[in-house]
Amino acid sequence: MKTSQQIRQEFIDFFVKRHGHTFVPSSSVVPHDDPTLLFTNAGMNQFKPIFLGLEKRAYTRATNTQKCIRAGGKHNDLDDVGRSRRHHTFFEMLGNWSFGDYFKRGAIEMAWELLTKVWGLDPSRLHVSCFEGDEKNGVPRDTESAQIWKEVAGLPDDHIHYFGKDNFWEMGDTGPCGPCTEIYIDRTPDKSGGPQVNGEDPRVMEIWNLVFIQYNRNEDRSLTPLPSQHVDTGMGFERITQVLQNVNDNYGIDLFNPFWDALTKLSGIKYSGQYPKSNAADPVAEAANPQLRHDIAFRVIADHVRCLTFALTDGAVPSNEGRGYVLRRILRRAVRFGRQQLELKEPFLHTLVPVVVEAMGNAFPELKKNPHRVSDLIKDEEVGFGRTLDRGIELFEEAALEAQLQGHVTRQGPVLSDAPLHSYVISAGSAFKLHDTYGFPIDLTRIMAEERGMSVDLKGYEELMERARELARSGGKEGTESRLTDLPPDAIAKLQGEKISPTNDQHKYKGEPIQATVQAIWDGERFVDQIDSGEAAVILNHTNFYAEMGGQVGDAGLLTSVRQASFQVETTRAVGGYILHIGQITSGTLNIGQNVTATVSPKRVLTQKSHTTTHLANWALREVLGDDVQQKGSLVDPEKLRFDFSHGKSLSDDELGKVETLVNQGIEKRLPVYAEEAPQEKALKINGLRAVFGEKYPPMVRVVSVGAPVAELLKDPANEKWRQYSIEFCGGTHLGNSAEAGAFVITSEESVSKGIRRIVGVTGDAAKQSQTLASQLRAAVDQARSAPEFEIPSAIAVVQKHLTAPGLPLREKRKAQAAVAELQAKYKAWEKANKSQQGGSGADVAEAANKLLTDAVDLGGGKLIVGELPNANDDTLRGVMDSIRKRTASYGILLGSAADGKVSLIAAVSDELIAKGLKAGDWIREAAKVAGGGGGGRPQMA
Ligand code: SER
Repeated sequence: MKTSQQIRQEFIDFFVKRHGHTFVPSSSVVPHDDPTLLFTNAGMNQFKPIFLGLEKRAYTRATNTQKCIRAGGKHNDLDDVGRSRRHHTFFEMLGNWSFGDYFKRGAIEMAWELLTKVWGLDPSRLHVSCFEGDEKNGVPRDTESAQIWKEVAGLPDDHIHYFGKDNFWEMGDTGPCGPCTEIYIDRTPDKSGGPQVNGEDPRVMEIWNLVFIQYNRNEDRSLTPLPSQHVDTGMGFERITQVLQNVNDNYGIDLFNPFWDALTKLSGIKYSGQYPKSNAADPVAEAANPQLRHDIAFRVIADHVRCLTFALTDGAVPSNEGRGYVLRRILRRAVRFGRQQLELKEPFLHTLVPVVVEAMGNAFPELKKNPHRVSDLIKDEEVGFGRTLDRGIELFEEAALEAQLQGHVTRQGPVLSDAPLHSYVISAGSAFKLHDTYGFPIDLTRIMAEERGMSVDLKGYEELMERARELARSGGKEGTESRLTDLPPDAIAKLQGEKISPTNDQHKYKGEPIQATVQAIWDGERFVDQIDSGEAAVILNHTNFYAEMGGQVGDAGLLTSVRQASFQVETTRAVGGYILHIGQITSGTLNIGQNVTATVSPKRVLTQKSHTTTHLANWALREVLGDDVQQKGSLVDPEKLRFDFSHGKSLSDDELGKVETLVNQGIEKRLPVYAEEAPQEKALKINGLRAVFGEKYPPMVRVVSVGAPVAELLKDPANEKWRQYSIEFCGGTHLGNSAEAGAFVITSEESVSKGIRRIVGVTGDAAKQSQTLASQLRAAVDQARSAPEFEIPSAIAVVQKHLTAPGLPLREKRKAQAAVAELQAKYKAWEKANKSQQGGSGADVAEAANKLLTDAVDLGGGKLIVGELPNANDDTLRGVMDSIRKRTASYGILLGSAADGKVSLIAAVSDELIAKGLKAGDWIREAAKVAGGGGGGRPQMA
């Protein structure tokens, strides 16, 4: 039998050695640079810019095995995993590509050759499907592919099938796409599978998809033809291995054996490879068959830990949003199956990371780099989820209680009714929250409800889930792109066709005004020759503007002509090598061919302050927190800098202080900033260099160094002293000297997701302003500290007001907050010592409430409670009141106390009794009269 390893290699060798393809390593499973995608979902993702005509490569034929995740977004198989024989969240996709090289015939010939000649599959078991056409969008029926199949493979008509959208492949809501022809294998004993092609029968399975990429799907769903025609093929590696190893399911292949062994060791349970009849969960059948439940759990765990190990290795982290959220769901699903079906109560998932590394580290060496980091992240999540599950159980109890109370309220009955419990329904909202926040699957909530003779509002739950799915579907996109900030592929092809060369932006680093010529004007829909009003994107032959990149915002500024045309640039972006100056015309007319003066807004200097200071902060964070600090994202603009980095916990005051001080020292030292290009290989050797994890860098990189000339760094790269400088790969614009930043203040520090912190800071005038606010705050704190006790509350109010000022230094803020807490405690202690009135402890309150409840009288379907609490102060009265209200659905409560010659009364009435005419405000007014006083309030509380 061929091993999976051999099969992978044979595929690649076939295309490289026999058909002149270049092997291109799999791209990261986390598409760091494509906001339209949650995860890499197909081998073609990394080639998207080539398909769109934005990029060219040295080769026109490529092949590889790509790491893919299909969970969340357009292609989502998560819910099927475990019960399905052929679905995964993580899988490998073998593929071959042609970029404007061979097309339909070439792709079909090669596929047929590999399947039938090299791998010897029986041709009479193979079927294909072709696209039936889409009149509305002008895509014809693909009889061309069918004809080629007949010629190349001699396939009879009943082995060629036509389908609609299943034979039109799209990567996401937008992007490159085209008709495809899919190859199926029929493994029914009598080869009768034809009618099952593209159906549910697992014996008739798609094994290879050949896509003919010819269009781009636009935001408005229309299709635009691409400048050239390409081939994109994808073959599920686990599926073809299933076929070649002659087993009945993807999880039966050799690759998964180590997972079953490891899980057996952990749980003492053996894997037997059973599957349910269909992919949908069937609680009744599963309840009756423990081995089936175990087998499903084994597959869920093996699949999910592969997915998590790859995603985390490639830099993703579980979190509360976007792809991090999808990963968290996957992790929790695996943990739940382990807990519920295999009795694995302790964190276990992280112990399987080495199994993934061992099984797949040869094909994907990146797995071997830092597996400990991956297992630590998973373990943290598992521990956190354990706590969440426990809290979820509590929440379930509350939901059940709420359901019971709700049932009583609607029947207007007394609280302690003996009505049968099954009339109570757990609300859709509670069931959804249990699922969404606490990871409780709906079956679990149902089972727990049924154990109590209750039911769940399943219909409402499904509606909420559908709404959430809707949200998740659109979740991969970060806001809608404006018409102006992007150019569709056909627009780029048009520019290329007209020989308009990409914008030369060598002047951007200096940023001084230059003369340039208008090459093209894009109005959001088409290119126009001139504009005299409204918004547009202007392309010049060369520019001094910086286009948004690497976290630095695009420049604003002005384009003016001698003939009084004035175009206000709001931002700048690069698309396919063309730089778009996006903004609006404020006077005159701008034409193609016109000469303009391009002036960058002076705000650029503020952005540069933020940017150079960010580099110093990145360096200082590593100095203070250690080498594990890695940049995870950044944003620099004229107002602030924002920097995300890997670190497990909140920064202490001391750490914050040290970082701030190091950065400010860097500013005070007046360090010159050097920026030069260098060969990547050489530059990577510089001791202490900072580069971003997962970022692709070109062969020539720009090195930005604060304090040490780049030539010297390259001369003696290993020198220990370079660690004292900030040295980074960076294409952004910077100050000439660190002193221009003026000062640096950190204004906030928070968690963005597990293991990732974010600091926000300000520089220059904003930093000085922040320091002024800090000294005002300090003065207010000093004043409060020296105030006499009885004035503490008003002094605290003054401090609180200062605390609301935006842009305060974080450390000062934290100090003042601590001072406020201290002062509050001081005031409380003083108040206690000075009050002759007796207060009430928690236990006293509960006891008093209990007693009053036992004495309650029925009133109009609720409880009437009237009582005296001798010597109680106002807080105690309120406490007892709240305690009673929590335990009673419908009530009218009036409590009173007399202490120190003063009488206090408090009343509360539930909405139901208010409707019947009893209002707390009226009640108090009348009662207070009796005590010789006055009072009033709302109908609910007075
Ligand atoms: N992109 C196609 C798919 O994923 C072929 O590679 O099926």
